[in-house]
Amino acid sequence: MVAIPIELKASHNRPLGMSPARFLREYWQKQPLLVRGMFAGFQNALTPEDLAGLACEEAALSRIVLHDPGHNRWTLRTGPFGESDFATLPKTHWTLLVQDVDKWDADVAALLDGFGFIPAWRRDDVMVSYATDGGGVGPHVDRYDVFLVQGIGRRRWRISTDPGAPMDFRADSDLKLLAGFAPTHDWVLEPGDALYLPPGVPHEGKALGECMTFSIGMRAPSRAELLLDFAEFLAEPLGEEKRYADPDLRPAKDPGEIDAVALRRVRAAMPHFSNVDNSVFASWFGRFITAYRAAHEAAPAARPLSHARLGGKLAGTRLLRNPWSRMAWTRHGRNAELFVAGHSYRCTVALARLIAGQRDLDGDAVLARAGKTGLPVLAALVNAGHLLLAKRR
Ligand code: SIN
Ligand code: CO
Repeated sequence: MVAIPIELKASHNRPLGMSPARFLREYWQKQPLLVRGMFAGFQNALTPEDLAGLACEEAALSRIVLHDPGHNRWTLRTGPFGESDFATLPKTHWTLLVQDVDKWDADVAALLDGFGFIPAWRRDDVMVSYATDGGGVGPHVDRYDVFLVQGIGRRRWRISTDPGAPMDFRADSDLKLLAGFAPTHDWVLEPGDALYLPPGVPHEGKALGECMTFSIGMRAPSRAELLLDFAEFLAEPLGEEKRYADPDLRPAKDPGEIDAVALRRVRAAMPHFSNVDNSVFASWFGRFITAYRAAHEAAPAARPLSHARLGGKLAGTRLLRNPWSRMAWTRHGRNAELFVAGHSYRCTVALARLIAGQRDLDGDAVLARAGKTGLPVLAALVNAGHLLLAKRR
């Protein structure tokens, strides 16, 4: 395979240095690209003073990031800021960042016109930063695609295209800085140059003298957000009246069990998820229904017990169920999944039946059924406050 260039020059009628179709096919969401002169003759849409003024607005989302290079310490301050905040800043190594500047300033919003080949709903905002010499936000990754357009001044950008680059964060900062950053590319961007980064590419920009950067950021909802919102959308017209129903109910073989017939009824109540695997569906329903309409949560035990210690204590005692801890179980292959107040535990069918079936358990009977594999489950339940050790009557 022929490697495609990572750096190109824009031309008058090709601001990306290629057609938008080729950019989308070869780079978008796949590979970084530096386009020299994408915004040739860049007219600074905003002055540093305008940006500082915006950062004082209550409704604007603004941050100042300070770096102490001597100790490699980072500090994050959040806006809105006042004039005195700016007056006390050091001469170098800080940056001011304001999000959604396109919503406040029509000239900044006009920058988005250069990205008309990307659906408007996919674009998030234009974030503008002003940095003093050495200023930046440190090495990090972003979740979204971004075009980093250099405004005034110069900025040194370093990125890593190594697919195996470590993604661990430094523990000493709220800024989600990468603990290790080994750049594979190092560029100085001049006014009008633009660096496109797909999500997840480690990068760091450092101001060389005063500079301003305009970040055209995209947005992409997480699958979890899509699913949750869609479920709410489907649920809304259903209202409260239509409920799980079982006019065909037969006497329960084991009242603690969520059996296959019950699970079929639940599935029928939500046909939109008919292709979800049976065991995933059961695992969800068991957690859901044992937490549903619970008025209280169990208080964890004051002193947690190891499962070995619990094993030594069980003989001759009782285990009382916390009356607020709902329990149920379902078959999972040859074993059981035991559900307790929204949590799930794997154990034998015999132990699940026993725990879910009785409010007052005999310690010896539990010990006999628990075996080595069941003791950790019992210890977890005792430690979470769902089962309480008591003296035999
Ligand atoms: C900036 O400092 O202007 C951009 C920050 C970033 O890398 O996302
Ligand atoms: Co970034």
